Amino acid sequence: MARVRTWTWWLAAGAGVAAVWWLTKGRRDDGDVLRLKDGRVVRIREVRPEDKPLFVHALRTARDQTVYHRFGTVKRRFSPQELRYLTEVDGSNHYAIGATMRSAGALRGVAVARFVRDPRDPSQAEAAVAVADDVQGVGLGRTLFIHLALAARSRGIVRLVCPVLATNRASLALMRRLDPEAAFEPDGEWVLATLDLARVL
Ligand SMILES: CC(C)(COP(=O)(O)OP(=O)(O)OC[C@H]1O[C@@H](n2cnc3c(N)ncnc32)[C@H](O)[C@@H]1OP(=O)(O)O)[C@@H](O)C(=O)NCCC(=O)NCCS
Repeated sequence: MARVRTWTWWLAAGAGVAAVWWLTKGRRDDGDVLRLKDGRVVRIREVRPEDKPLFVHALRTARDQTVYHRFGTVKRRFSPQELRYLTEVDGSNHYAIGATMRSAGALRGVAVARFVRDPRDPSQAEAAVAVADDVQGVGLGRTLFIHLALAARSRGIVRLVCPVLATNRASLALMRRLDPEAAFEPDGEWVLATLDLARVL
């Protein structure tokens, strides 16, 4: 009997280890395959609650400037509440899509784009995008934003408003590239870029 209990324990422990491995490293290469301009491959899919470790790693390894451009401040840790906010989205009023890449056997989150619907005007949403430093400049930000725009349009949204730091030339250029007639409204050190989805898509 004692022998059976020992086996049961080992079985349960093994299953637990396998589940943790699965959640963190294994079998997570799902989503649409996208080949970047430099030949590397990423997969694009909606963000899920179990992506928290990918967000933690991405923030820890990003350059200061990238973090500053995305959040307006340089930080290295998300609070548990922030992590829940970023990964536990309802898919309708708060939608997030990300790109993953496998490097050195581990899965990394290399980009994320999201929108949050404006409760006062449900036909518009605030949007943001960020791409990992070593994957910038090869078309991922633009492609991910187009995926975001498609998801927004199918949920009844017609405009995306992106707060961009006035000094963030790459992001301002991306907005112009996506919508050549985008409106840019200064707001302190930020610029609110309003993109019309009829022109983006
Ligand atoms: C802004 C950002 C998302 C762009 O993503 P990316 O994957 O590097 O951009 P892409 O390679 O898709 O480029 C798309 C377009 O953006 C513009 N662009 C991108 N990087 C640029 C740069 N360094 N300088 C000028 N224009 C740039 C270009 O118009 C480019 O089009 P092109 O390739 O036809 O010339 C990325 O630099 C980033 O994550 N920055 C830090 C976070 C941030 O600033 N987020 C924006 C807050 S909303």
